[in-house]
Amino acid sequence: MTPTARPARLRPTLSSADYCSAEVFEVERERIFHRGWMYVCHVDGIPPGTKRVFDIAGESVIVTRDLDGGLHAFANVCRHRGAQLCDAAMTEATKGAIRCQYHSWTYGLDGALVATPRVDDEFDSSEYGLWTYRIDTWNGMVFVSLDGRSTDAVDLAAWIASATPHAAQFADLPVASYRIGARSETLVAANWKIIVENYAECLHCAVVHPELAELIPLYKSGNVVHPDDPLAPVTFAEGRVAFTTSGRTTLSVLPGLDGAPEYDGVAIFPNVFFDLTPTVLSLTAIFPLGPDRSLVVGEYLFHPDDVARDDFDPTPEVEFNELVGAQDYVVCEMVQRGVASRAFTTGGLTVKDEYVADLVQRYLDIRGPVAPD
Ligand code: FES
Ligand SMILES: [Fe+2]
Repeated sequence: MTPTARPARLRPTLSSADYCSAEVFEVERERIFHRGWMYVCHVDGIPPGTKRVFDIAGESVIVTRDLDGGLHAFANVCRHRGAQLCDAAMTEATKGAIRCQYHSWTYGLDGALVATPRVDDEFDSSEYGLWTYRIDTWNGMVFVSLDGRSTDAVDLAAWIASATPHAAQFADLPVASYRIGARSETLVAANWKIIVENYAECLHCAVVHPELAELIPLYKSGNVVHPDDPLAPVTFAEGRVAFTTSGRTTLSVLPGLDGAPEYDGVAIFPNVFFDLTPTVLSLTAIFPLGPDRSLVVGEYLFHPDDVARDDFDPTPEVEFNELVGAQDYVVCEMVQRGVASRAFTTGGLTVKDEYVADLVQRYLDIRGPVAPD
């Protein structure tokens, strides 16, 4: 007997609990954010002799760069009686040693305990340096891993190669030489995966990003890449040479690029977008603050000679990126409110959501099952 032909069902999205539940977020903290490698900033954001504080899904981490250029990551915890050392708010890089506000124990940028005022005890201060985390760079981008204990802890290169193989095509760009010309922070009331999934599809582009769809005509079709040739360049409209509203620019082409008017990029799992256009590399970091909130930090990188100029003006590039980002965050928050409904089971992924489907699969593979209640 021939089975009756029935229309195929769409592949399911993640579930409401995956986007909303504290339990899933806790599992993600254990198996992804505190286990794998999280992007924190470009090296230019942490000059030699400075420190910064980052919130890695609820763990406050001090990142330092010593005067020799060496990078370090420490728990933001004093070894005396456990006070938090630095203000945990996301801050600019500040110079100088790390001094506890409680009893003034002081640590060098290499984490060594260097002063314990008014303490008379003889003790081995080398036993009381700051607790360290792993830190490494990939092409000028600084990543931290809180996993110091697992026997199967992977190094950064292996982590990127396995979770984001597509990033390899950018490995030879001299990104470490680019300079930060602008930075932004946005609180988004959405789960980090909703922001990453939104990045992975362009079905929304014609509706949500009219200006972007004017600049990049392919996006009017809802495709992220050319359907017949996924490796073909994603080019700008005729006559436009830069990722700005007008398509014009006063800035130089980034080192390593030839100025071809096109876009290329990748979402490096789990928390940074790498968006490359001729005059600006936009690095967008997502810091998950809870199941339904994320801090999104944009770093805009330019040709180092441009950033050094007195009349350097990145406004057109920054404003266009920020416009597209703001449009995205409105719809991400809309999705967060929708998937929190008791009615939502799962949605459906279409062919043009194929990169979202890939992402869902990769995420589930890395996260693994969450125990039922
Ligand atoms: S807790 Fe930091 S110096 Fe005492
Ligand atoms: Fe978008």
